[in-house]
Amino acid sequence: MDRILANSGCGTRTEVKKWIRSGFVSVGGQIITDPSAEIPESNLNDVSVSGQKVRCSHFLYLCLNKPDRCLTALEDTRLRTVREFIPVHLLGKGIAPVGRLDYHTTGVLLFTNDGELNHRLSSPKHHIPKSYTVRFSGPPIDPETVSLIASGMVLRDRPGKKEILSPATIGSDGPSGCQITIYEGKTHQVKRMLAATGRSVISLHRHDFAGIRLTSDQKFGQIRDLTEEEIDALKNACGFNDRSEKLI
Ligand code: URA
Repeated sequence: MDRILANSGCGTRTEVKKWIRSGFVSVGGQIITDPSAEIPESNLNDVSVSGQKVRCSHFLYLCLNKPDRCLTALEDTRLRTVREFIPVHLLGKGIAPVGRLDYHTTGVLLFTNDGELNHRLSSPKHHIPKSYTVRFSGPPIDPETVSLIASGMVLRDRPGKKEILSPATIGSDGPSGCQITIYEGKTHQVKRMLAATGRSVISLHRHDFAGIRLTSDQKFGQIRDLTEEEIDALKNACGFNDRSEKLI
């Protein structure tokens, strides 16, 4: 109950828990005082706070610290997938990864069952920033590479195909490291960008997706709910205004 109400934008998780415990929330005309009560889909359009109807949804927004050696997929016949890090009670609720990380790439991977938001966050149209910490072999990052990447480089690594990339930013992080921010999500994009400059990626960690970062204690394989502020920030990042009615 508290998650659904908070996701609907009428208050923070802490606020709505307080309202529920205080008897302000009803579902199908019945007062609910347990914030952890399960609300059936069929009752979602009959939720009220202090007698005012709230438009509710079962949307979920999660952030996984993806470990190495797993596929960004919910099933595969041969390889380990991110499915094992999703709590069982959330499987079957239609959640899907927002974009993908390669098998060996680690770090921030979002999941949601809000299809419209997922679509917007994945679309290059919205220029969503994604930042990576990279270790590579090859020459240190030099000013030519910085300006090449800043001006929008051209990839010619696929037969008969020329891909023009959006401008990105890169900063050196020691002789064999860099931080790179890209605003689209082409397949193996960071690896291909560095390969085009004569470098080979050894490890790739996404530390930021549209401002969403791992918490300091979030270990590999740990998944957490996004906070209300994070969900709001994601929606703002892709011009997707909160569709709920602010009631209180
Ligand atoms: N770029 C890559 O090359 N791989 C990833 O997993 C993400 C971005």
